[in-house]
Amino acid sequence: MTESLTVLGLESSCDDTAAAVVRLVDGTEPMILSSVVHGQTDLHSAFGGVVPEIAARAHAEKLDVSVRQALEQAGVGLDKLDAVAVTAGPGLIGGVMSGVMCAKGIAAATGLPLIGVNHLAGHALTPRLTDRVGYPYLMLLVSGGHCQYLIVRGPQAFTRLGGTIDDAPGEAFDKTARLLGLPQPGGPSVEAEGRLGDPKRFRFPRPLLDRPDCNLSFSGLKTALMRMRDQLVAEQRGLTRQDRADLCAGFQAAVVDTLAEKTRRAIAIYLEDNPATPMLAVAGGVAANAAIRSALEKVCGETGIGFVAPPLRLCTDNAAMIAYAGIELFLTGARDGMTLSARPRWPLDQNSPALLGSGKKGAKA
Ligand code: KG4
Ligand code: ZN
Repeated sequence: MTESLTVLGLESSCDDTAAAVVRLVDGTEPMILSSVVHGQTDLHSAFGGVVPEIAARAHAEKLDVSVRQALEQAGVGLDKLDAVAVTAGPGLIGGVMSGVMCAKGIAAATGLPLIGVNHLAGHALTPRLTDRVGYPYLMLLVSGGHCQYLIVRGPQAFTRLGGTIDDAPGEAFDKTARLLGLPQPGGPSVEAEGRLGDPKRFRFPRPLLDRPDCNLSFSGLKTALMRMRDQLVAEQRGLTRQDRADLCAGFQAAVVDTLAEKTRRAIAIYLEDNPATPMLAVAGGVAANAAIRSALEKVCGETGIGFVAPPLRLCTDNAAMIAYAGIELFLTGARDGMTLSARPRWPLDQNSPALLGSGKKGAKA
């Protein structure tokens, strides 16, 4: 029987300060002993986006508290840990540096091994933490800051099939909400408003579907919506509730269709690998959208592959995913020393070209 492994994880790459303790029991069974997340939405809401300096300062203030709470809730002292894992990028550099400095402090004081984790790898490995999904699986990351298709082959082996060339889908939902005067975060409000609307009344484009690759683009949808809104305002001096609902429904239908079609293409490429148990997993806040989720599930059904959507609290930014990624890295022998540095950009697939764009939540690696 393999001994258990207990890892403290830290996350501070965007606007959530998080700490968690995850234990791998008997070498196979991951257990989340605690997962603490302190969001910063209130600090940034007046600015219409995350302000990097405010985020970095708030992380520096909240990291100690988060670590203390995570250890207390797990009932584990520093002496019972086997390693400290920390997000070392990609993300807003001030926040990432705060986390890395905190983890280095803990490692220096305790002698524990330090492991730098790629934030996107944390998201990408989450289906293994929650559902023990076997390699290789296809991953769609869809959040306010990320959007990419990855074949996940191992804790450090990723093939990126494509991603957004401009906005992330969550960002597009947020901008749409802002244009229509709906509350933030935009995803849930646009989804709720769109339920009352007719998705066919306005003709939104289906960006990049004429291109055979798996790349996506969402910024044109927001521009199209702005034009439609402005035309309505010019014609009738304002928007009715029905106009707003129809615009939301039309916008969402375009996102759904685009994601469904590009997912079909990504699955076809992934299946060329002949995976034993083919699976598509999603992560990121946008995976909460019922229409998107059911469209992806339908595509998986049509193509005969399984579908996994981890619980939302583990799809969005958290430190349990960083601790778990740290465990997988630890088992491969990966260790970082005091030279570990914070990286604003850090693509998972070093061989694929950099994606364009930098969203409100920082660089898209
Ligand atoms: O993963 P997440 O919590 O944070 C990062 O982006 O890192 O994702 C937040 C994003 C926001 O842009 C939010 O509007 C979007 O996810 N979102 C949704 C829904 N719920 C949250 N988008 C569409 N439909 C939803 N129901
Ligand atoms: Zn994230």
